[in-house]
Amino acid sequence: MNEKNHSSLKRIALLTSGGDAPGMNAAIRAVVLAAHHYQIEVIGFKHGYNGLLNKEFFTLNFHHVHGLINQGGTLLKSARCKAFYHDDGVKQAAQTLVNESIDALIVIGGDGSFNGLIALQKYWSGQVIGIPGTIDNDVDGTDHTIGFATAVNTAIEAIDKIRDTADAFERVFIVELMGRHSGQITFNVGIACAAEQVLSFENFSVAQLSAEQRNARLIEIATDIKQAQQKYQSSYIITIAENLWPGGANQLAIDLKKHTEIDCTACILGYIQRGGSPVAKDRILATKMGVAAVQTLIAGNTNLMIGEQNNSITTLLLTEAIKHQKRVSDSLINAQKDILAMAAQTQC
Ligand code: F6P
Repeated sequence: MNEKNHSSLKRIALLTSGGDAPGMNAAIRAVVLAAHHYQIEVIGFKHGYNGLLNKEFFTLNFHHVHGLINQGGTLLKSARCKAFYHDDGVKQAAQTLVNESIDALIVIGGDGSFNGLIALQKYWSGQVIGIPGTIDNDVDGTDHTIGFATAVNTAIEAIDKIRDTADAFERVFIVELMGRHSGQITFNVGIACAAEQVLSFENFSVAQLSAEQRNARLIEIATDIKQAQQKYQSSYIITIAENLWPGGANQLAIDLKKHTEIDCTACILGYIQRGGSPVAKDRILATKMGVAAVQTLIAGNTNLMIGEQNNSITTLLLTEAIKHQKRVSDSLINAQKDILAMAAQTQC
C-alpha cells in the first residue's frame, strides 16, 4: 500500500559519486522503494555529477532494483567530476535540475561528493541529502560508511591466503591497504589478520621526516621483524596504509632491503577491496540509510547527511560532516598495541 506523501516532493534525483563501494546498489534500491512507497518519482543520474552536466538520466523503477541488493559496484555508475571544482560546472548542473523539475537530490558518496552538494546549494534551492558510501570509513558523523565492512572482509580473506604462503616460506609480506588518508581499513584488517605490524597515519608518521629520521624508522621496523623471526621462525605480515610511505609498499620493501638487508615481498591489494557482493552489514546499513534519506526529505529537511551511530539513524549538517576526517578510535589503536605487546611477552 502506498502511503500519502504530504510534502510537495514529486521528483527526486539520485546519483552515486566518487569511489564505488559495495552496498551502493542496496542504497539505490532502498531509495527507489521508499520513494515509490510515498509516490515520488526517482530520476537516476549516471556517472556521478557528470550525469547532471551531460544530462544522462533515466527513471528508476522497481524492475531496475529487483535483484540488486547483492550486487557490488553501482547501477548508476560513478565518477569523480573535475568540472564541479569550478562555478561554471556547478551552475550548469543546477540548471539541469531546474530544467528537469527535480525537487531534491540524494548523493551516495564520500566527503568529496558532499562538497559537491554544498556547492550546488549556491545555485539551486532544491533539498539535498548525502548518504555516506565509501570503503574508507573516513566520514565524520557515522559509525560506518556503506562499503567499509565488505572491504575489510575482502582484505581479510586475501591476507589469510597470503599468510599461507608467508608461513610456508617463513617470509615477510608488506600488504598495502586502501583508505586514502585514513587507517580505518588498515587497522581493522591488521588486527583481524593478526598482522605483526600495522603502519598507518595514526601510529606511524613519516611525513616531513629527514632522510636520517626515515632510516631510523626503517631500523625500528627491521628490528621488530628480526626479533619476531628469531623467536617464532615464522611468517611476518605488515599491513600498511596507502599514501603513508613515500612510494608505497613497493618502495618500503626496497628501502628495507637497502638499509637493513631484510627481504620483504610487497603486495598491493588495491581495487579488489572496492568490489564484490556486499556483506550483510553493508546491505542492512544501506537499506536503513536509503529509507531514512527519503523520509528525511519528506519531513522537509535539507543539507543533511544520514548517519548511523550506536545503532540509531542520525542526521548531521553536510557542512559539519565534511569538516574533519573521522578519527580511528583510540580503542582500536590501543587494541592493536596491546595484543602485540602481549604476543611479544609470550614464551614459545
Ligand atoms: O575513496 C575510495 C578509494 O578507493 C580510496 O581508498 C583510494 O585512495 C581512492 O578511492 C582511489 O581512487 P581512484 O578510484 O580514483 O583511483
